[in-house]
Amino acid sequence: MMKKWKIALLGLGTVGSGVVTILQTHRERIRKQLGADLEVVGALVRNPAKSRKVEVESDVLTMDIQTIWEREPDIIIDAMGGLDPTLGYIEEAISRQCHVVSANKEMLAAYGPHLHHLAEEQNVSLLYEASVGGGIPVLNALSQLLHANRITRVYGILNGTTNYILTKMEEENLAYEEVLAQAQELGFAEADPTADVEGYDAFNKIQIIGHLCFGGKTQPLASEREGIVSVTSEEIEVYGKLGYRVKLLAVAERQGSGYSLRVGPTLVPHSHQLAGVKNEYNAVFVTGDIVGDLLFTGKGAGALPTGSAVVEDVLQVVSGRTFALEQEEAGGRTVIHGEAETSEAVAAFFTLPKRETDSAKIRLLSFLSSEAGFLHAVDTLEAGEGSYIAAILSGADVQVLQAFAKHVDAVLHLRAVLDDRLALAFREANVTLPI
Ligand SMILES: NC(=O)c1ccc[n+]([C@@H]2O[C@H](COP(=O)([O-])OP(=O)(O)OC[C@H]3O[C@@H](n4cnc5c(N)ncnc54)[C@H](OP(=O)(O)O)[C@@H]3O)[C@@H](O)[C@H]2O)c1
Repeated sequence: MMKKWKIALLGLGTVGSGVVTILQTHRERIRKQLGADLEVVGALVRNPAKSRKVEVESDVLTMDIQTIWEREPDIIIDAMGGLDPTLGYIEEAISRQCHVVSANKEMLAAYGPHLHHLAEEQNVSLLYEASVGGGIPVLNALSQLLHANRITRVYGILNGTTNYILTKMEEENLAYEEVLAQAQELGFAEADPTADVEGYDAFNKIQIIGHLCFGGKTQPLASEREGIVSVTSEEIEVYGKLGYRVKLLAVAERQGSGYSLRVGPTLVPHSHQLAGVKNEYNAVFVTGDIVGDLLFTGKGAGALPTGSAVVEDVLQVVSGRTFALEQEEAGGRTVIHGEAETSEAVAAFFTLPKRETDSAKIRLLSFLSSEAGFLHAVDTLEAGEGSYIAAILSGADVQVLQAFAKHVDAVLHLRAVLDDRLALAFREANVTLPI
């Protein structure tokens, strides 16, 4: 006889509606593929009278969590978000031996290892593909790879809103504020965009990846987070001339027995696949010591892509699978592909006020060519009220750069440079200063 699985949703907004739509439209296919019947027995919402994007029986909706427990679900889907009261509900669900599928990146970033511990104790599945990269099956892939491979680095574009804003700033030569306002009108950015534009959302996702790949018990050796609010259209233009595109990258990287996490605006060479990932698309590179480099790309948000990830996780639960965090290792393993490469280059963008004389610019260019480190590339721009100089350097001392910027009354923004193989080619070339 076909087994019936009772499903309860916490939340029936964008993600919850996508999940229910897929369960309604694909019910027969799922029955045939898995020999299982999935039935939605409850959906917790704040306001049952609100109009919904999907039709459900009126007795499915409830404002009372007790009603959800009384229906004895086998699987709880967290499509509600936030920490309170969601975390308490998920802990309760696990203690009741419900399997959990979640799209809630905030909760998984902060409490992922804790929830894994509870799920292991109760012998239930915990899956959360939708929390990172929407419909892109990157966590499932990582979970599969971790059996034999040792992941050395995961990096990519994990926030669609900021990728959309940076793409439009470059393609339409617009200021950040203008593009943000447009994105809000089009629904690509929230009314309060802080979580996206300050990099918190991307950081939550890379933290989840960090737990999965490098172990839940280990704290990162270093973590940095910067968003895109300081990125200007002038900066994008000059780095474009030097052969780089500015992207908000999230990077999790193995370092010895630990790992580091970083989110920040990063220069990506035009020839790198990530440079071609535009608008609201996400993309993730994974490096495993056996498999080498893998690239995953697709839509990182939206009702159906995210709903797809949730439903696929539900089907994994039905098949008895769960995510497992990387176990701490005793001793090293033989590494076939090398450890992650980090770029030694740094990009420095100086803004000089127009009133500054040419001599400040000349002093800055002369400093960059002789004292700042090894200069790979440099270019300038005169626009509006400012005079701009962008340089890519290796072996630079950040404090010396900052001190010199102060000395010539310039504002300095430093950026990381991804896999700076292109810039390294400049080692052989003579750099001609643009004066
Ligand atoms: N949207 C995406 O594309 C996307 C992509 C990946 C991950 N996620 C994650 O998925 C989760 C849900 O996102 P969403 O965009 O679907 O949010 P949403 O559209 O705002 O939906 C939230 C749902 O949860 C219900 N809810 C919220 N607080 C509640 C409470 N205290 N008690 C009972 N019900 C409550 C709401 O009820 P009412 O409908 O009655 O207000 C609503 O149905 C979040 O963690 C988000 O980060 C979203």
